[in-house]
Amino acid sequence: MTTATASATTTPGPLSDPDRVLIFDTTLRDGEQSPGATMSHAEKLEIAQMLDEMGVDIIEAGFPIASEGDFAAVTEIAKQAQNAVICGLARAQIPDIDRCWEAVKHARRPRIHTFIGTSPLHRAIPNLDMDQMADRIHQTVTHARNLCDNVQWSAMDATRTEHDYLCRVVEIAIKAGASTINIPDTVGYTAPRESAALIRMLIERVPGADKVVFSTHCHNDLGMATANSLAAVEAGARQIECTINGLGERAGNAALEEVVMALKVRHDIMPWTTGIDTKKIIGISRRVSQVSGFPVQFNKAIVGKNAFLHESGIHQDGVLKNVETFEIMRPADIGLNEANIAMGKHSGRAALRAKLADLGYEVGDNQLKDIFVRFKELADRKKEIYDDDLVALMQDSAANTDSDYLQVKKLRVVCGGGEPAMATLTMVVGDAERTETAQGDGPVDATFNAVDAMFEHHATLQLYQVHAVTEGTDAQATVSVRMEEDGRIATGQASDVDTILASAKAYVGALNRLKVRRERTAPDADTRAISMYTV
Ligand code: KIV
Ligand code: ZN
Repeated sequence: MTTATASATTTPGPLSDPDRVLIFDTTLRDGEQSPGATMSHAEKLEIAQMLDEMGVDIIEAGFPIASEGDFAAVTEIAKQAQNAVICGLARAQIPDIDRCWEAVKHARRPRIHTFIGTSPLHRAIPNLDMDQMADRIHQTVTHARNLCDNVQWSAMDATRTEHDYLCRVVEIAIKAGASTINIPDTVGYTAPRESAALIRMLIERVPGADKVVFSTHCHNDLGMATANSLAAVEAGARQIECTINGLGERAGNAALEEVVMALKVRHDIMPWTTGIDTKKIIGISRRVSQVSGFPVQFNKAIVGKNAFLHESGIHQDGVLKNVETFEIMRPADIGLNEANIAMGKHSGRAALRAKLADLGYEVGDNQLKDIFVRFKELADRKKEIYDDDLVALMQDSAANTDSDYLQVKKLRVVCGGGEPAMATLTMVVGDAERTETAQGDGPVDATFNAVDAMFEHHATLQLYQVHAVTEGTDAQATVSVRMEEDGRIATGQASDVDTILASAKAYVGALNRLKVRRERTAPDADTRAISMYTV
């Protein structure tokens, strides 16, 4: 990216500070739409509160028409938000927009976000010609604007839409009263130069462009979402749509932590600011990973476990002499404490609370009591407890709060020597305690078979993943499991020094969540079951 130049196209829109970039977080809508990332109602409220506290300008809280669950979550988030604008998504249909307004109207600062796919491929599906679609945009944005002062309109698949047509429909949306115009790269197809040129073209050609905020919404299919978002800002966009950890459909959306830290660290060449308290990044990254069941890849920019590790001798030597040799930002900038001081079985409750706060977890007295018991149990089995062990402990305890219908009590596994593995599992199923022995192809398979013998279901296992939390053979293992049943997806995550026990707990955690979802929603009420088209 080249040095920003002051031109007509870099002084956009109606914001009082032309150098301020609005951060629009869609973790709870586009992020949650990603298969398997479904969050519970309580988890959505918690994430929304964290987003509000970290200074996100606009929170897209959900897609209210998609399900009763989405509607309830957007409504509650609208009621609880203190600072952020609360936005809901609606297709270009009057009932969608009405439903969206019913949910967001409780917010101090509500926004309706309505969209339609404008590219030839997307126009073909609802079978609308260019004029019919233009009329629909005029009608739906006008309707939204009659309900709400703050309306955002998106041209889905804008980066594959004919330029003349895009200019035409953007002008219609502006005239109908939209104050934010979002230009999504829905399939992650664009590249930085093109992303910038598109925004510049719209700002130059569309009458009324100087009265609205242009927004960029980039998916990461070619790994360019962050670069494309920043290029759009350079060309005059002043809203970036993004998600925590880059969660989202397929390869995800632009990651909030990446765009925000890029603007902070390279302020010299990208002189725009956000309102984000970057010290809150690591806490929310961990919590989103935990509730979505999507682990953060180790080498993920900014929030990956290795993002601030210097393994090779030459790098370590350099960092010890002068930290700037290999570090362009400090761990503390994203809220990571620098000293990975080990805790042990003699550490007390106050030390544990302080350490957890350092790691981004503020715990109440009751939760601390619970965590302390589990910390002591772990300390009895493992000499030194590192930060990553505590993060795993926190993720484990919170990952299983949805339901405790099934609880693992005791597990004994016999395997090896060429014989089939045998697992004897004692588990609480509802009110009763039961024990079953099952065999399988290896200890994990035998354990899962023992669970299945006690709890009938027809869910299928989509993912089974094991990570060592720290180094050493006494390391805890974090196991992630993803299950699917009738189109509903649920994840479970658990950690233990006993990998097979962690596997059993993760499996049971996912089954508990599926059970809750089965009871709460009809299958077709799920967000992913709703068509994005307005036929
Ligand atoms: O990617 C996309 O186009 C979207 C729209 C609904 C804004 O998520
Ligand atoms: Zn999207």
